[in-house]
Amino acid sequence: MVNARVERLCTDPELYIIRIDDDEIKYFEAAWYIPEGITYNAYLMKLKDAVVLFDTTKADYANLFLEKLRELVNPEEITHIIVHHTEPDHSGALPKVLEANNYKAQVIGTAFARNLLEGFYGKDVVKNFKVVKDGEEMSIGGKTFRFITVPWLHWPDTMITYVVEDRLIFSCDAGGGYSIPETIDDSDEEVVQRYLPHVAKYIVTVIGHYHKYIVQNIKKLKNLGIVDNARMILPGHGIAWCHNPRRIFEFYERVGAGVPEKDKVLVIYDSMYGFVERRMEIVLDELRKLGKKPVVYRFTDREAPAVSDILGEVPSAEAIIIGASTFEAEIHPRIRYTLFEILDKANYEKPVLIVGAFGWGGVAGRKIETLITRSKFDHVATVESKGMPTEEDEAKLREAVRKLVEWTS
Ligand code: FEO
Repeated sequence: MVNARVERLCTDPELYIIRIDDDEIKYFEAAWYIPEGITYNAYLMKLKDAVVLFDTTKADYANLFLEKLRELVNPEEITHIIVHHTEPDHSGALPKVLEANNYKAQVIGTAFARNLLEGFYGKDVVKNFKVVKDGEEMSIGGKTFRFITVPWLHWPDTMITYVVEDRLIFSCDAGGGYSIPETIDDSDEEVVQRYLPHVAKYIVTVIGHYHKYIVQNIKKLKNLGIVDNARMILPGHGIAWCHNPRRIFEFYERVGAGVPEKDKVLVIYDSMYGFVERRMEIVLDELRKLGKKPVVYRFTDREAPAVSDILGEVPSAEAIIIGASTFEAEIHPRIRYTLFEILDKANYEKPVLIVGAFGWGGVAGRKIETLITRSKFDHVATVESKGMPTEEDEAKLREAVRKLVEWTS
């Protein structure tokens, strides 16, 4: 059941999180399988003569959101609503919140956001809209609100808010992750450790297409001096970083840059009738002999892992091994789609070994090789052969694995 949590994050300024815990969603953006769920975080700040709402929630949960909001404030008392990003997981409830507010609040966002909001929800939501530019400051309730654009984190409309006196960063998608963490904030290290892989999966699936902008935008915020200085980083999804705020942006930078974990080799393959499987047994045996730690995802007639999970593993891999059957003169469809998404969203400079098996004509290996050589990945070798692997095939596979491992050292 979708739940809502309201908690106070600090008393000065009086700041609350309104977190909708969505455990009913199956496919984020109708694409990414997330059985772990997601949270939509909005924040409310009560100041001496202003009440500021930072983002809202998904339209499906607008009534639940309003119910929780009313525990904190009469919606008519909200003076400002800051829209960091208009994707409807954050803006969907805006029309109902504005209706409950009698359209008294000033809505603040970028020019791009204004345009999108009008397109999504009509003219009423933007009739009291204040467009802000990169770096612009506004005095609200005795505090200085600085708005900083972070384009492509996740859309071109996106900005963050820095509350100067309190050193608070409201970062919307940036700093977010999938899953429904047990805690609101980063006070429990075990919760954080369980949460971070869901952050990597979120980054690649949602922002991965724009991953160079992750590094670029965080650098921009660092150069402004606000990251090192931040007291809290408050994202639109997942954990609120109240204790060690820098940690989440450091994690984002590592994922954005594809910093590998020592010895992790990501192995992805399909096997229709065991021919690729047998080759992968050889490959995995050689990898383990060389001290590597393979992480394996396989598509067979009994299992089909989520592509979203595979994507989340790519940035931290030292190397990748792709195994594929030739299927109707093409790459097996599961691997074809997985590869398409990897090249689109997780395109990093990492070495790749390709392993192929075929019945009467090998096509998959060559086609994968062409795609890999046109990407940022480094093609190490392709070993493709017919039917069950021979002793000669086995020797070639072991040699190719050794070459891949040498590449990582
Ligand atoms: Fe969480 Fe891009 O929206």
